[in-house]
Amino acid sequence: MKGKVLITGATSGLGLAYAMEYAKRGYDLIVTGRRKEKLEKNAEEIMAQTGVHIKIIIVELSNQKGLDYLLNEIREESIEVLINNAGYGLRPVFSDLSKEEMEGLLFLQTNVVVSLTHFILKGMLSRNNGTIINVSSESAFAVMPHNVLYAATKTFLLTFTEGLYMELADTNIQIQVICPGFIDSDFHESAGMKVNKQRKGIMKFTSPEKIVSVSMRDLDRKRIVSETSFDVKVFHFLSRVLPRKIFYRMAISFAKKIKRS
Ligand SMILES: NC(=O)c1ccc[n+]([C@@H]2O[C@H](COP(=O)([O-])OP(=O)(O)OC[C@H]3O[C@@H](n4cnc5c(N)ncnc54)[C@H](OP(=O)(O)O)[C@@H]3O)[C@@H](O)[C@H]2O)c1
Repeated sequence: MKGKVLITGATSGLGLAYAMEYAKRGYDLIVTGRRKEKLEKNAEEIMAQTGVHIKIIIVELSNQKGLDYLLNEIREESIEVLINNAGYGLRPVFSDLSKEEMEGLLFLQTNVVVSLTHFILKGMLSRNNGTIINVSSESAFAVMPHNVLYAATKTFLLTFTEGLYMELADTNIQIQVICPGFIDSDFHESAGMKVNKQRKGIMKFTSPEKIVSVSMRDLDRKRIVSETSFDVKVFHFLSRVLPRKIFYRMAISFAKKIKRS
């Protein structure tokens, strides 16, 4: 019998696209988020279209209380696929962040992923079956101004996932970290950013559905780090080969360009 798929942050964007993908594959889902009405409406639509069951957990995950609540809610569940997706961006420069902003982002994008993975992995190991997908970002490959803490958490996820893969290489548990570029989701609006969601060029926005299809293809190919578009691969390559000082200058001028747009 199939286990369930747990997706954190499935209200919109990538999490919602993963929810639809796994529902179409016949999996019952557990989804989390904070926007109750939107989660419920999406869940009704997915259930009507696919016939699967969806459990909704409304939870703020930027603190220990929310994480404990979620761990308790899933205590009895048999989870076959874990997608650590919930995340958000912060626009201000690092020095302008409040203590709460810093701690909330760090908690959601590191502690929650680590604790959920540790908790769910135990069941996966006893069944010798499972899949864990951690949602990182192209910013894991290179940090930019105005993105310092966010990028640091995404680099953590890249390192964490690659290490986990090696530790679990002799098991039947699949591990993936996806590193997308810009996604056409609610992410930028939620962070108070106004962006032109163009579909081509260096700041190309990709649909969540396209990112999920690449993630699924890369799972089939047993690829651990999923770089979800050509521009991400170019960005990763440049960040590796350019002398650091040249890279810093490019990143600074790119960040200024984004700020003006
Ligand atoms: N958008 C991009 O350009 C981009 C690029 C690379 C990587 N990513 C990563 O992709 C993942 C999904 O983002 P998205 O683009 O799909 O954005 P999105 O549409 O804004 O979705 C983010 C999800 O995370 C949940 N979430 C955010 N903060 C939360 C908190 N404090 N507690 C609980 N849940 C929280 C949101 O729930 P509610 O809305 O219900 O609160 C929502 O379901 C994130 O990890 C993000 O870092 C995004």
